[in-house]
Amino acid sequence: MSGTATTGGGSVTITLDGSNKSASLPMVHGTIGPSVFDIRKLYDQLGVFTYDPGYGGTAACDSKITYIDGDAGVLLHRGYPIEQLAEKSTFLEVAHLLLNGDLPNAKQKHEFEMGVMRHTMLHEQLRRFYDGFRRDAHPMAVMCGVVGALSAFYHDALDINDPEVRRISAFRLIAKMPTIAAWAYKYAIGQPFIYPRNDLGYAENFLYMMNAVPAEPYHVNPVLARAMDRIFILHADHEQNASTSTVRLAGSTGANPFACIAAGIASLWGPAHGGANEAVLKMLAEIGHVDNIPAFLAAVKDKNSHIRLMGFGHRVYKNYDPRAKIMQQSCHEVLQELGIKDDPLLDLAVELEKIALHDEYFVSRKLYPNVDFYSGIILKAMGFPTSMFTVLFAVARTVGWISQWKEMIEDPSQRIGRPRQVYTGPTQRDYVPLDQRR
Ligand code: CMC
Repeated sequence: MSGTATTGGGSVTITLDGSNKSASLPMVHGTIGPSVFDIRKLYDQLGVFTYDPGYGGTAACDSKITYIDGDAGVLLHRGYPIEQLAEKSTFLEVAHLLLNGDLPNAKQKHEFEMGVMRHTMLHEQLRRFYDGFRRDAHPMAVMCGVVGALSAFYHDALDINDPEVRRISAFRLIAKMPTIAAWAYKYAIGQPFIYPRNDLGYAENFLYMMNAVPAEPYHVNPVLARAMDRIFILHADHEQNASTSTVRLAGSTGANPFACIAAGIASLWGPAHGGANEAVLKMLAEIGHVDNIPAFLAAVKDKNSHIRLMGFGHRVYKNYDPRAKIMQQSCHEVLQELGIKDDPLLDLAVELEKIALHDEYFVSRKLYPNVDFYSGIILKAMGFPTSMFTVLFAVARTVGWISQWKEMIEDPSQRIGRPRQVYTGPTQRDYVPLDQRR
């Protein structure tokens, strides 16, 4: 079931203390989830704004794409639970769902997959961009640069008001991200770039470009391809998180989609967001042994240490992140397939989780494992270096970013994003000549 936000039911009246002025603000209701009240006329009516650093209490748009119930640990894409999508669907099917609103029928599925896979190659000139980076550049830096540069290659596709341009840009971005990512890796390790193979599945082709060398044949392990595809599904979208909001904000100015996605990649990079998967592995390596967990958790709880338990906590989930549960299960499957009987990092992570979930500090703050807690262990077992973890997140999240960008552009009520502020700087004063300054 779907619908539009409605203003048909109720209002909130706000009265300013010490004045007889009040404003009646309409309630807005979604199909599920808490209602909101519309503050757009608040300034006109009362001459005040709202204050919400971090936007924890503010809905910035209406969206039909993803729904999260953070208290219940529920994640739905276009109404479908993430557990069902992870088990039964494929990443490209989920991409169709997010972009177009529904699961494709057989003909649509075929056309969509063909549409994406036909765009996997990069313009040959783009190869040269890689040479401009140091070999030890972080691959996320390479991603920001190369994805941003795509806008210089598609002059034919910068009219965002043309639906066909939006469609083709989405295909190009989803298709080229694995190639850009795999080449960032190949460049770092000094191996030749491997060109995409469109006869392979999306995740399979990515693993092929990552691991193959021109000198010998390479066959992708189907169990690992399926695991990769599932990891992509789990990262595909997550409503109005920091990077998606960045894409929407950049897009609200009319910027082209390649530039907007480059902005999203930059935002994803931080350790509080997509960079957490890399940070989790660094943290586990630093802890080193289960015996060191109590001392580490004591440091986390010490407010002066600024150490956080990475892969734990979430702005919206105050319960187990449903993606983390699936990731944990996948982790065991992948390790089994790879014949890894005992992985000290996994043992450490399981023990750390067990202890943290019973610790008053984490319990009282409702801090649970998030998607990043186990993903790094799987990715490491699959042979990815830690610096590539956030890159993989970016490859998958491109689908969510471009879906949200498209939804925003197609929303007739869309206007430039422009938050206000509470100014706390100096009041007006006169310029002081240099010889009179102290
Ligand atoms: N370790 C220790 N304490 C924590 C943690 C943590 N991971 N997360 C939150 N807290 C504490 C925080 O210190 C605060 O305590 P107090 O009330 O005593 O001041 C309380 O919990 C609330 O935290 P907050 O910083 O107000 O929460 P937030 O919603 O602003 O932050 C978060 C959410 C995800 C940035 C944060 O939980 C965090 O830094 N987690 C570790 C990084 C991480 O795993 N990020 C991945 C998120 S999921 C994937 C993604 O979005 O990319």
